[in-house]
Amino acid sequence: MTKILFKTNRILSAVLTKCKYSTAAKSVATVQINGKEFISDDYTNVTPKILSYLGRNLHLEKNNPLSLVRQRIVNYFYSSFTQRGNPLFSVYDNLSPIVTVKQNFDDLLIPLDHPSRVKSDCYYINRDTLLRGHMTAHQSELLKAGLDNFLMIGDVYRRDEIDSTHFPVFHQVDAVRSQRKDELFHDKPDLEIFEPTFDPNNPFAFPNSIDDPMKQSCHTLEATKLMEAQLKNHLIGLVKCLFGKNIKHRWVEAYFPFTHPSWELEIYYENDWLEVLGCGIVRNEILASAGPNNSIAYAFGLGLERLAMALYKIPDIRLMWSTDSGFRSQFENVDLNAKIKYKPVSSYPQCKNDMSFWLPPNLTIDTFMNNDFYDLVRDIGGDIIEQVKLKDKFVHPKSKKHSLCYSIVYRHLERTLTQGEVNQVHKEIEKAVVDNYNVVIR
Ligand code: PHE
Repeated sequence: MTKILFKTNRILSAVLTKCKYSTAAKSVATVQINGKEFISDDYTNVTPKILSYLGRNLHLEKNNPLSLVRQRIVNYFYSSFTQRGNPLFSVYDNLSPIVTVKQNFDDLLIPLDHPSRVKSDCYYINRDTLLRGHMTAHQSELLKAGLDNFLMIGDVYRRDEIDSTHFPVFHQVDAVRSQRKDELFHDKPDLEIFEPTFDPNNPFAFPNSIDDPMKQSCHTLEATKLMEAQLKNHLIGLVKCLFGKNIKHRWVEAYFPFTHPSWELEIYYENDWLEVLGCGIVRNEILASAGPNNSIAYAFGLGLERLAMALYKIPDIRLMWSTDSGFRSQFENVDLNAKIKYKPVSSYPQCKNDMSFWLPPNLTIDTFMNNDFYDLVRDIGGDIIEQVKLKDKFVHPKSKKHSLCYSIVYRHLERTLTQGEVNQVHKEIEKAVVDNYNVVIR
């Protein structure tokens, strides 16, 4: 896959500042984030727009629907698991979203060629550093710090299409629950976590395989099955606590590089199955590298936006970012467990404009990167961009020139946009597309 970089980059030039190093007389481009300087390289693809979301912390914002759901989830874990009257889980909801490639991928056994690492799906600050793509990025470091039961809550960043349910920043709750033999099998002391051929004191001498769909080869079937039953019970309990006991759900087998076996939980919502979380038994290599060698753990990660949108019937993900009092006031000083249904303040009309262009000879309809284009559109248009869709691809039979047509839907959340206003923004986007990709507008 050919990747397109913003060469004569209007976007990056706004983030990148030239700075002089006293040791080397060369000037280098850097990215400044919260006063910290990162040296940029050929992986750098964060934009000022994306960086502007850092620190908003919607999950901690009073009266934000995401924050209400976060509190309900934390309360569920606090009350379901106590030890001598104290909560068993500790909560980390203020970890920096700037992580290393090692934290986000390597420590979690994500293979080097795994699609989740590609530049077109992540916001890289440089080759070694990125905005976390999932909260699981903190799992290893917290295990290393000696924690065994914890929740990690925060903002995550993924490059994606733009529509009413996708936004490049969203929020996740991730968790790990570990148990030693005496906890897991407190009433069955003759059962073991590990197979007799596996020596927990020398874990890497054993090739831990995931070929058996039921379990990792180092674990006993009894330990895996008991963990699976607890994991599923706790998560169904959570979903029932949020949506009521009649919510329909189903488990789907899944694959994650950092758990085995793995599942996804779907709930039946508005005549369709909606995936709400991923989970599984933590790969023993991760536990063994991070420290605890005598326990088994389960982990899960769920998306707060999906849950909040379904719970409160919020039709558009961008509303989570609204500072409009008409939206905010509906979630103000409410009883956490009250049934709230979002009432649209008013629905303003959409404006749709198409953009067609010829690609320069070095690009084809297959190598042109949609996600780069989406970011550029959002960077210029800001939050009035509701959708960007590829409408048409075309290769001219004679000239062999390649052409693309995108339709861009504009809508303001709080007022009616005039066609004139939209045309102005559309023109600015066209200009940026021409500057960045050398295309010719049709
Ligand atoms: N990190 C996964 C995701 O973002 C979710 C997950 C977390 C799955 C923990 C399994 C265990 O999709």
